[in-house]
Amino acid sequence: MIKIENLNFSYKKNVPVLKNINLNINAGESVAIVGKSGSGKTTLLSIMAILLDDYEGNYSFHDESINQLSNKERVKFRGENIGIVFQGFYLLPHLTVLQNVMLPLDGLQYSKEEKINLAQESLSAVGMGEFVESYPDEVSGGQAQRVAIARALVRRPSIIMGDEPTGNLDESNSDMIIKLLKKNTNKDGTLIVITHDMSVAEQFDRVIRLNKGEISS
Ligand SMILES: Nc1ncnc2c1ncn2[C@@H]1O[C@H](COP(=O)(O)OP(=O)(O)OP(=O)(O)O)[C@@H](O)[C@H]1O
Ligand SMILES: [Mg+2]
Repeated sequence: MIKIENLNFSYKKNVPVLKNINLNINAGESVAIVGKSGSGKTTLLSIMAILLDDYEGNYSFHDESINQLSNKERVKFRGENIGIVFQGFYLLPHLTVLQNVMLPLDGLQYSKEEKINLAQESLSAVGMGEFVESYPDEVSGGQAQRVAIARALVRRPSIIMGDEPTGNLDESNSDMIIKLLKKNTNKDGTLIVITHDMSVAEQFDRVIRLNKGEISS
């Protein structure tokens, strides 16, 4: 489903960050990306999430080449297909838990009531249904991460991506988050997660290791 061919990327001229990456990820697969700090994990995920685009090589999704899409089409594509969870949660502090989860529905053709229902369903799926009225600083770190997951899930994306989604959490919270991500990735859904933690990586179908911008295994 995801196909990356001969991908090369640098932020600065002559400083390659990703080197000749070739990668296929099938629908329904769960994949962990591991590697030392600075090895290019976030950069690779950002390209897969279409947050970075001036790379060399080809990135296609269901045989459609992402490179060929206009900016507008890319934004639409990301919104419809990809849910992203970051290590730092990135919840907006002045919005309630419910309002944070409703954000990805902005501009979509749902009524206000439907948006509230979708966000509530998503929060219930991660066990945060009771916290709709709370503000992000009134919940724990593990709970905030669950809200971030609910927000990533609210449009029911076929691909869920996480950049160290368990990075700030203790072991039991970390376990819970991985279980939630797996449980909420539907049968044909794809889960791609960056982690430093081998005990997390072991829970995935496949582990991709980056070493200085190259896939080493
Ligand atoms: N915005 C940027 N501008 C310039 N260089 C960058 C930028 N972001 C990352 N880099 C460089 O690209 C390389 C890969 O960074 P990346 O963030 O992808 O690594 P990472 O594997 O995610 O590391 P970590 O585990 O520390 O998060 C590093 O050498 C980094 O310094
Ligand atoms: Mg990173």
